[in-house]
Amino acid sequence: MSGSILLWPPAASAYARQVDVLIGTFGALVVLLSAPVFVLMIVWAWRYRKGRRADRSPGRNRNIWLETSWSVIPFLLILGFFFWSSAMFLSVQTPPDDALTVNVVAKQWMWKFQHAGGAREINDLHVPAGRPVRLTMTSQDVIHSLFVPALRIKQDVLPERYTQLWFNADHPGVYPLRCAEYCGTDHSEMIGRFIVQRPQDYALWISRMGMDEGLAKSGKDLFNKVGCSGCHGPASPVHAPSLDGLYGSVVALDGGRTVRADGQYLHDSIMLPNSQVVAGYKPIMPAFGNLLDEEEVLQLVAYLKSRKSATPSSGEIGGERP
Ligand code: CUA
Repeated sequence: MSGSILLWPPAASAYARQVDVLIGTFGALVVLLSAPVFVLMIVWAWRYRKGRRADRSPGRNRNIWLETSWSVIPFLLILGFFFWSSAMFLSVQTPPDDALTVNVVAKQWMWKFQHAGGAREINDLHVPAGRPVRLTMTSQDVIHSLFVPALRIKQDVLPERYTQLWFNADHPGVYPLRCAEYCGTDHSEMIGRFIVQRPQDYALWISRMGMDEGLAKSGKDLFNKVGCSGCHGPASPVHAPSLDGLYGSVVALDGGRTVRADGQYLHDSIMLPNSQVVAGYKPIMPAFGNLLDEEEVLQLVAYLKSRKSATPSSGEIGGERP
């Protein structure tokens, strides 16, 4: 299946089948609306061709209702598609709360996936069938675009920004996963496999892979290793904001602005701290943009999120941005 180019790839989710119905219906409507025009064009070109004796006197009876209806009815039909497709677009933009989160880092030229439990893989994405999965994605370098034809979903993956996608694949199988944005020499090689497994197979796979510690745990080690704890630790002599309960809270910034501390805010505060300084603090934090890669920032954000409350983190990053 992977490797070959399919005009109509198999559909691996309910959403994909809805897209097929939408495209099929829209295609049928376009044919229905344009076919009469072309048929009449040919018929009349034949009937009134040069040299043929035909009645060319102006038409006598105009029918205002007929003429109005052939503008208004197609307009309403097309408008119906606007609402139909908008509803689908909104649904694909809003992941359910119980979705499993997988973090994605794209780089020239590979896809790196980090599961919440700590399992990591490159160019293969394993997911359980029948469970909503949300991808929080960022790029290490240039703009990429994650495209899974079997799911009929595609989303640009941008440097320094979190974008997201979600799906609920329901057909176990192996499907192609591609980069759909020209990203350099080996763009066409940036191909992976999207592997939908039955829930029990997925559990087995994750138990074999999940030897690694969880994302938040890796983030905590990194927090101490790169020196965050030196200033943000409880016993620190440096005056730095406390990070407990930060995720999801509203932060007052220098200059009177406020911002919600979502995944994007935490990312930016680590990479370019002086762009958003917390009110009452000095811009003394060093930028970590050259020290950390996007995978590490995802781990730190997962750790900071776990400090929200006493409950352990699921490793999920808020990709939402107002
Ligand atoms: Cu990555 Cu094209």
